[in-house]
Amino acid sequence: MPDYRQEIPFFDTAIYNPKQRSQIDLAIQSVLDHGKYINGPEVYEFSEKLSTYLNVKHVVPCANGTDALTISLLALDLQRGDEVIVPVFNYVAAAEAVEILGLTPAFIDVSNKDFNIEVKEIEKRINSKTKAIIITHLFGAAAKIDHIVDLAHKYNIAVIEDIAQAVGTELNQRKVGTYGDIGCISFFPTKNLACFGDGGAIITNNEVIANKAKMIANHGQTNKYEHKIAGCNSRLDTLQAAILSVQLLYLEDNLNKRRAIAEKYQDGLKDISEICLPVQQQNSFHTFNQYCILLRSKEVREELQNDLKNSGIGVMIYYPKPLHIQEAFARYEHKVNDFPVAEDLCNRILALPVFPDLREEQLQYIISQIRNFFNQ
Ligand SMILES: Cc1ncc(COP(=O)(O)O)c(C=O)c1O
Repeated sequence: MPDYRQEIPFFDTAIYNPKQRSQIDLAIQSVLDHGKYINGPEVYEFSEKLSTYLNVKHVVPCANGTDALTISLLALDLQRGDEVIVPVFNYVAAAEAVEILGLTPAFIDVSNKDFNIEVKEIEKRINSKTKAIIITHLFGAAAKIDHIVDLAHKYNIAVIEDIAQAVGTELNQRKVGTYGDIGCISFFPTKNLACFGDGGAIITNNEVIANKAKMIANHGQTNKYEHKIAGCNSRLDTLQAAILSVQLLYLEDNLNKRRAIAEKYQDGLKDISEICLPVQQQNSFHTFNQYCILLRSKEVREELQNDLKNSGIGVMIYYPKPLHIQEAFARYEHKVNDFPVAEDLCNRILALPVFPDLREEQLQYIISQIRNFFNQ
């Protein structure tokens, strides 16, 4: 197979492993043969396999990770005006799901160590309207979900874990996403477990929530043409499910590759005092969906970003703007400086390439370009 990679992309979603490619070809072929493109047997088979891998009782497949969050909130029977705690340094999906359902996102700052929600801020934000908390395990790093679940129990608040970036991440040898009441997954092509388009799933050990989520994702339908509530149409395509069953076979190997790349970045950059490297909490297994470093200032980040781009290295900024100052949430009248850690991170963070097929020579080239930039 020709190698099209002249430059180092930020992410490469192509499948290069010939065995994996042929397994995917076969999986697609078998769907074309039976033609059950909607709710075909592969959807059920994949859900079973994922539930075994994550050690969770129920997997409810759906169309994407954003729907997983929206359906989860609907399944909790929240009322208009109820507050849902959301970390402010985050992808927009969680806050967006809260907002479009007429709930109120209660933003919270994050930790500048692991970029996840700052646990000590949570209790301060809880009031009588707080009904749920969405915890994003950002970049594949486990949040302090065990403490958060204890806190949520104390206040009778539901916990939704957003594991879009953290499928396979563990804390105390238990997969994140299974600590709270519900876990939400995205199978977007750059995620740890990726399909070839959009896909998502809701995971839970709670049968009532699982049944409700299943019903909501299927037009609120109980029996054919019997609609108990107004739901939506959110399905994982049979083709994507067939692909995901193959992808699941390679997940552990891919996570180990991601971790090995992260270790090499760590080794290659640790003596550069101008850079803060990502950390993981004790007893956790980080899966490095992103590898993000922190620079001294916005200006240094911009210079390094340009330098790496000019050297043919793809980098990204996750995230350039925190949620509280996004126009979408302007009605809450948050101001600059309301969440100083998140704002500071947005100015200084930079994501380096990390994907399973990143080759050793590419990785060493990235490390050497960063070292050169800092005259090391
Ligand atoms: C943390 C997080 N949550 C939710 C989502 C939404 O997933 P999807 O794009 O499948 O809707 C993403 C996707 O980028 C994400 O990174």
